[in-house]
Amino acid sequence: MGDGEGQMGAASGAPNPPALEERYRIPLEAGTVSIDALVDGILAHATDSPVLRTGAVQSVGAALTIELPDTGIPLQAAVDEIMSVAGTYYRKNAHPGMFSYVASPGLPTDPLGHALTAALNQNLTGYMGAPGATLVERTLIRWLCALAGLPEGSDGLVVSGGSIANFSAIAAAVHRGLGPVAREQGIQGGPHPVILAAESAHFSVQRAAILLGLGRAGVEVVECDETHRMDVEALARKLDEAADDPGRRVCCVVASAGTTAMGVVDPLPEIAALCRQHGVWLHVDAAYGGAALLSDALRERLCGIELADSLTVDLHKWCYLAFDGSVLLYRDPESARELFAFEADYARYGNDQTAETRTCFDLSPEVSRRSRALPAYLAWRHYGLDVLGRNIQHNAECAQYLAELVKASADFELVTEPMLSICCFRYLPPASKDDASHVDWVNARIVERLALGGNFLLSSTLVNERPVLRVCVCSHTTSARHMDELVLEIRRIAAVLAEG
Ligand SMILES: Cc1ncc(COP(=O)(O)O)c(C=O)c1O
Repeated sequence: MGDGEGQMGAASGAPNPPALEERYRIPLEAGTVSIDALVDGILAHATDSPVLRTGAVQSVGAALTIELPDTGIPLQAAVDEIMSVAGTYYRKNAHPGMFSYVASPGLPTDPLGHALTAALNQNLTGYMGAPGATLVERTLIRWLCALAGLPEGSDGLVVSGGSIANFSAIAAAVHRGLGPVAREQGIQGGPHPVILAAESAHFSVQRAAILLGLGRAGVEVVECDETHRMDVEALARKLDEAADDPGRRVCCVVASAGTTAMGVVDPLPEIAALCRQHGVWLHVDAAYGGAALLSDALRERLCGIELADSLTVDLHKWCYLAFDGSVLLYRDPESARELFAFEADYARYGNDQTAETRTCFDLSPEVSRRSRALPAYLAWRHYGLDVLGRNIQHNAECAQYLAELVKASADFELVTEPMLSICCFRYLPPASKDDASHVDWVNARIVERLALGGNFLLSSTLVNERPVLRVCVCSHTTSARHMDELVLEIRRIAAVLAEG
């Protein structure tokens, strides 16, 4: 897969966004290992096929049969050892055909950002533990609060991922719903706390309920409408029913701004209005879709996000940044502090708890944290919102372009209109397109054979119990040309399958 101008750019008049690859070179030396060489060596091949290079566990693992040594080896030899395994058998998240998950491609600035983070080695427990790095994180949080339209006084931090961000927000919401007695004595008697979430919500929501001791039953599922978005009328009914039931108390509604499977955005303004009416905490899981906040053209697709009580935005999904990092924002950070704050004797820094100097470990369960905001700050300052936003917009345009190709082809079926950068569709073999089980079989084989071909990695998901092809466009290396090539390759595979 070489470089080239996408057809869409020419067709729609929308030029391809500025390529980020131009900025690969970073003049840094670490002992005998040049970061330049590493960066060039890895990133320069990030777009070579295959997308996923793996092997039998036995042969991959054979390279690592070495026992923990008593004496060390030269740094370059240790790097070579790592590269012979982790740098050989890996999934290239920056490959233009890497469509299988909402996985970040990583940015060329990341190796430097992560090297700086490790070199500074700060622990973000609070201002006195990491004065400058805390301020870098606060800056990133301030930028994201502003992009999301959250009011003055909103606050947050960067945690390891969307799951822990969702867990933290849901825990804070449940704690607020139950009141302070639950923090001291656990959930004893009283109404059973309930979380309402659409069936399309990420499984971290159910896991949060389990971890909070509410069990899976603690999440009541709200149906979706025909566009796969949370059905607002069904939500209203659930809230009304619970209001009349002294045995249940709805503590949190979780809405998605970009569902994992199809990338659809729940109707946030209507959901927020119902939450306000019922005095219920609204958590918006924008782990994937929150990246649209960076794009002037896409931001309005998340309208209503500004009404969230808490918000998850993963840096390591569509925001392009290398793993890991998830921004967790609270409209009223005090409500999180009521749950997470702890007065440990060893951790009394004498902080005066002003907005600039407050502790960080009172907003999530984590105490020690590395400075995850630093690579993000570096990238956002270096590229600027315009370049990043236009690349993100271009991903959404590629998904839309694929949807148009699919709609224009009798041998394809679009499953949902893309709302962000995920396109779900099905191949329909012309000779057997009404035979559902054969269609399902063909689509499952297509996913397998695409992976073997090495140019594209897709994942399959189920929509209405049937498999669909799912293309998640989250890399700044992808262009419309790759959509054309994907369609051709699917047809080639289907022709081979038809021959038996
Ligand atoms: C919508 C959504 N929320 C949360 C998560 C979990 O995020 P993480 O993998 O960072 O824990 C995912 C993962 O794909 C997701 O798609």
